Amino acid sequence: MTAPNISTLMEEFARRLVQNGYRPESVKRAVAKQARLMAHSLLIDYITRPQDCEECSVTPGCSSCPIHSEGATRRVPGHGNPSSPILFVGEGPGEHEDIFGIPFIGIAGTALTMWLEKMPLKREQVYIANVLKCRPKGNRTPQPEECRTCIETNLNREIKMIGPRVMVAVGAVALKALIPDAPGITASHGKWFSYRDIPLTPIFHPAYVLRQQGAQFTKVNQQVYRDLMQAYSRL
Ligand code: URA
Repeated sequence: MTAPNISTLMEEFARRLVQNGYRPESVKRAVAKQARLMAHSLLIDYITRPQDCEECSVTPGCSSCPIHSEGATRRVPGHGNPSSPILFVGEGPGEHEDIFGIPFIGIAGTALTMWLEKMPLKREQVYIANVLKCRPKGNRTPQPEECRTCIETNLNREIKMIGPRVMVAVGAVALKALIPDAPGITASHGKWFSYRDIPLTPIFHPAYVLRQQGAQFTKVNQQVYRDLMQAYSRL
């Protein structure tokens, strides 16, 4: 089925609701939210669609870089609240993300969920995506060109649709992919950068934090909480 034009549909819905007697301001707000949900649904559909789907009338699914055919089970789109004011961007799906189709669903993701439990907006209230939508074979580090391609093809569309006020790059690879000139994560975490005019701050990747031990674990863990609080306070 051809995807309808969202703006046209929303104009039609708004007109009918105002005709019904609802206040234009309330209608406008609701319609904007619906439009965002629809755009989100179309985008998820686009990212996850098999590359050889012939029935689809909109753009075929992504096959822009070699990773999609390297053995990944599926594409893993961003997940969460499409109206979130804050967007978390990690590196790419790992083993469990590839199985369940949701970013940060494995052990590192569980740590991230736990961190967010201490924040004003919890995991279910935010949107979490990755630079890469497909899992590179054997968890290899993605090539900069692969990151660039996936960002242009997928992530930038997610960013546009969500319209976050703040972005958080989760880990060194996401930071380098989004802000190529940034210093390493140890020097950059807690500092502010700008991605397409959106303030962006990096935090340590939970997988890195989980590899630390003893006093060093406590130190980086506390640092992450400070960096996260700083990101939220910018909202
Ligand atoms: N690490 C990431 O960067 N992203 C995930 O989705 C999972 C682990």
